Amino acid sequence: MYTWLRNGLFLLPPEMAHDVALNALSAGRFVGLPRLVGGCPRSAPVELMGLSFPNPVGLAAGLDKNGDHIYALGQLGFGFVEVGTVTPRPQPGNPKPRMFRLPEHQALINRLGFNNKGVDHLVDRLKSTRYDGIIGANIGKQKDTPVDEAAADYRFCLEKVHPHCHYITVNISSPNTANLRELQDTGHLREFLDELVRARNSLDESNETCRPLLIKIAPDWEPAALTASLEVIATSGIDGLITTNTTLDRTRVAGHAHADEAGGLSGAPVKSLADATLRRAREVLGTDFPIIGLGGITRGEDAADKRRCGADLVQIYTGFIYQGPRLVHDCIRAWQTVDEDTAA
Ligand SMILES: Cc1cc2nc3c(=O)[nH]c(=O)nc-3n(C[C@H](O)[C@H](O)[C@H](O)COP(=O)(O)O)c2cc1C
Repeated sequence: MYTWLRNGLFLLPPEMAHDVALNALSAGRFVGLPRLVGGCPRSAPVELMGLSFPNPVGLAAGLDKNGDHIYALGQLGFGFVEVGTVTPRPQPGNPKPRMFRLPEHQALINRLGFNNKGVDHLVDRLKSTRYDGIIGANIGKQKDTPVDEAAADYRFCLEKVHPHCHYITVNISSPNTANLRELQDTGHLREFLDELVRARNSLDESNETCRPLLIKIAPDWEPAALTASLEVIATSGIDGLITTNTTLDRTRVAGHAHADEAGGLSGAPVKSLADATLRRAREVLGTDFPIIGLGGITRGEDAADKRRCGADLVQIYTGFIYQGPRLVHDCIRAWQTVDEDTAA
């Protein structure tokens, strides 16, 4: 059924197809459409960061930036849903076209640039959703906020979303907001994370809750710089890592008509870089540090690879666009096979 739907949607420009699909899914929730398409996969729950995830496969940030479709997406079988990235105020993002399909590579290139309706809109959606599963809120900085002042934007969003979600992701790895990735470098990172962890701790105290704070990193690193940043993360008080965001590398799509479009490449071509980043993160952070593996999962076996590289949970985005909700089930099954083999 999804293949048939996708073939129709792929006749539309990518961003329009995205809006049509999400609006149809949300409208269809009244007649149980999302559950019909997705179903309810069986899985052993995963206990991590004080949360109980019904299965290890989540929806990555960026598909539902504004939280307008949480309930419908939550019915597709995901173990958790991450919304955002949101910024303090609404912003339009980059001029269109800004999203491109590379179907031969099961890939997308996007340079959306944190287009979103602002954190207040997201908070309204979080307050009103009927979805009772785990929700992560992914936060970013305004396009025109200098990197040196970025922490204030993140703190602003953190305070707003803290009471209304289960965990918060600090996104410093989008390639589509100028200089954002500088926050990943050790020059900025320690001070930046110190400030956010302090803010989170005081919110936990005043709201009498514990909200895990995660950091989302890129797949594009010099090995020494990655190790240095991971060492800062290890001692920062941050509760978890999401690895990775999209890549700037075009080696694996060289020659494609869209290969030279500016933006982040996602889907199958990012997998080897994302897996290498994940493996290194597990080595540096040790066995107990929570890590969500992301990047290039287009088959169940790709999720199994993330598990073998050390992921505690996974997220998917581009593979979900190409494969639909079936991919969630395939990933859960493949994940369980790895766990059973390890236990045997
Ligand atoms: C169209 C598009 C928009 C995205 N927007 C965001 C975003 O707003 N925030 C974020 O943290 N990641 C965003 N991402 C990155 C994904 O969450 C994910 O990290 C990346 O695509 C790699 O995973 P994948 O290969 O499964 O797609 C976006 C990705 C795509 C394709």
